[in-house]
Amino acid sequence: VNTRVPLIAGNWKMNLDHLQAIAFVQKLAWSLKDSGHDFSATEVAVFPPFTDLRSVQTLVAADKLPLAYGGQDVSTQESGAYTGEISAAFLAALECQYVLIGHSERRTLHNETDEVVAAKVTAALKHNLVPIICVGETAADLELHGPSAVPVAQLKAALAGVDNAADIVVAYEPVWAIGSGQAATPEQAEQVAAALRSTLAEVLGQDVADKTRVLYGGSVKGVNIAGFMKEPNVDGALVGGASLDITEFSSIVRFQK
Ligand code: G3P
Repeated sequence: VNTRVPLIAGNWKMNLDHLQAIAFVQKLAWSLKDSGHDFSATEVAVFPPFTDLRSVQTLVAADKLPLAYGGQDVSTQESGAYTGEISAAFLAALECQYVLIGHSERRTLHNETDEVVAAKVTAALKHNLVPIICVGETAADLELHGPSAVPVAQLKAALAGVDNAADIVVAYEPVWAIGSGQAATPEQAEQVAAALRSTLAEVLGQDVADKTRVLYGGSVKGVNIAGFMKEPNVDGALVGGASLDITEFSSIVRFQK
């Protein structure tokens, strides 16, 4: 029996400053509450820029909002002379539950290797943050290696320092579907999500594979979410552009299978 609670996560990327974040989070929470959303049935998380996190923490705590939140990245290092970096301890101190690791934009634009991704996952777990490990193939990878090879290899590498007691989430984001308006089909997402779950079973055991949520990301919208959520191995979505529009993001959160 699948007991995994679906997770809808909004990756804001480099959008919304801390004042905009306060207004946005307030409106989002009220819009979802007003519509009767059951937060225990589908978890909702937002990933604002680092400079917004303190504001989001304050608001969530003051208004007891049922929203989770986290950073979009984290340092491999504990502390010290690492100009511009943000440690897992800092995120934990702001009561983040999650952190995105290895997003394709980090891998491509900031040259994050599989080794760096693995070190970030270890750093996050050390501070009890749940890493959302992002994996995905480019269009060229897809043509060359087929659908699952690259995401599976990225996941194996990212799990290098993870033991079977760890709480993790995996996000499958085909690079060709990110921000392109061309989402994967539910069947494509399911095929890779199933391969990723088998990898989890192989590396960390069946129990971990059964309880770990695998998300799909890449041009998710209100109109296509239900198709993904019908698939047995897709446990939610990592949403970029559509997470910046309250009506659109709410309709994703309130997907009907
Ligand atoms: O992390 C989410 C993201 O990369 C997907 O972006 O805009 O295609 O939903 P988007």
